[in-house]
Amino acid sequence: MSKMNILLVDDEDIVRNSLSILLSRMNCNVIAAKNAEEALTEYQQYEFDLVLTDFKMPEIDGLELLKKIRGIDDQAIVVMMTAYGSIENAVAAMRAGAFDYLTKPCSVGLMEVTLDKVRRYKDMRDQNKHYLQQLTEQFGFGNIIGKSRKMQEIYGLIQTVADTNSTILITGESGTGKELIANAIHYNSHRKNKPFIKLHCAALSEGVLESELFGHEKGSFTGAIRDRKGRFELADKGTLFLDEVASIPMATQVKLLRVLQEGEFERVGGIDTKKVDVRLIGATHRDLAEMVAEGTFREDLYYRLHVIEIKLPPLKERQEDISMLIEHFLDHYCEQNNKERKVFSDAAMSLLIDYEWPGNVRQLENVIERSVVLSRDTRTITTEFLPEELKRVQSKNEIFREDRTLKEMVDRYEKEIILNVLNERHWNRSDAARVMGLNRTTLYEKMRKYGIQIPDQAR
Ligand SMILES: Nc1ncnc2c1ncn2[C@@H]1O[C@H](COP(=O)(O)OP(=O)(O)OP(=O)(O)O)[C@@H](O)[C@H]1O
Ligand SMILES: [Mg+2]
Repeated sequence: MSKMNILLVDDEDIVRNSLSILLSRMNCNVIAAKNAEEALTEYQQYEFDLVLTDFKMPEIDGLELLKKIRGIDDQAIVVMMTAYGSIENAVAAMRAGAFDYLTKPCSVGLMEVTLDKVRRYKDMRDQNKHYLQQLTEQFGFGNIIGKSRKMQEIYGLIQTVADTNSTILITGESGTGKELIANAIHYNSHRKNKPFIKLHCAALSEGVLESELFGHEKGSFTGAIRDRKGRFELADKGTLFLDEVASIPMATQVKLLRVLQEGEFERVGGIDTKKVDVRLIGATHRDLAEMVAEGTFREDLYYRLHVIEIKLPPLKERQEDISMLIEHFLDHYCEQNNKERKVFSDAAMSLLIDYEWPGNVRQLENVIERSVVLSRDTRTITTEFLPEELKRVQSKNEIFREDRTLKEMVDRYEKEIILNVLNERHWNRSDAARVMGLNRTTLYEKMRKYGIQIPDQAR
């Protein structure tokens, strides 16, 4: 275990000397100061794991020193030594943020216990810091892919608003990354080491939603067998992410508005008013302004939520980001599946880039994961591992090429339709003919005209 660096402050030579010897024996580096002034000079010069200070000292006393040190570093660990019987001094020290107190004269045993407590606390704090760092990396900007102008504007906006308390509304089609952005906002705000609570509001009935949001008291409805905190209480001092805010019923909207305006609410079935400090981020793929016009969303709530809006563009409007996203997801899914890094063939790549991506980034991610898995040990992923909907686009682009006449386009389109129906009907020609409203002879004629061959396994 590494040595602990201790700043020892006491005006009595004999106490300083004896404690210095004692602490050195306990595997500590000790710097001793005989008054608060000296202590502060030392404190600003070196890094200490612990400040051990006497309470009663001439001029600046231990309590003042404690406050000054915590003013410099609010993470500082200070243990106060007080004379036997002066419990009110100990209490004052604890109130001012002391980590612990010791009564003088300090016994060896008690000193050991205290040092051990400090060590364990510091370990825990370092570990939390480490987790937090991991989370910040995972959900910070680093993880949001895209260099397009639109995305850069969004990064700028996040940077400006993350560390404020403003309510934020994130809008965008499904799969554009709304939740990802909400994460980035929380982990880039001063609330980052406080809770980040999420609630998906769709698919919850009004009663369930209210009890999820505000909590409930025992007995307030059948099934409420004990008091329960809601998401607002759980998110106190932190951030609450409400996904799909558009599906919140009108009655609940009123209550939500009140929390946003006054920061207060009551639990379902409760009478006590609860106060919370919560930063709210809402998300929706619907057009709230339109819902306000239709009368299905409260206008006052809309304005409260809409203080700052982050509009995420659909993927097709930032086509230049597609190849970066592909690389990112290829890295990720090859690694996750223990495969050597794969590449897409040129044809596959152009299909991926030209596709419209109605399901946006989520759909792209799924297509890549799927193709990494399906292509097994092949290193180059070809179009055969891409889903049908992507390939249909290819044939469409091919059909409507500018150098074709209308007749050529129609013929090619007809061929495409016939092929699709035959495939869907497993090459049952009578069935396919019926679906297309043709008789069998006409179907055979067209197949001959377009050179459509019946596959061997369908003969
Ligand atoms: N810019 C991006 N960079 C990297 N990954 C992204 C990006 N945008 C979205 N993703 C990924 O795409 C998936 C969908 O994103 P997310 O869940 O945030 O979308 P959403 O807008 O909340 O969708 P929905 O409206 O359907 O809930 C996630 O796995 C997310 O990590
Ligand atoms: Mg979402």
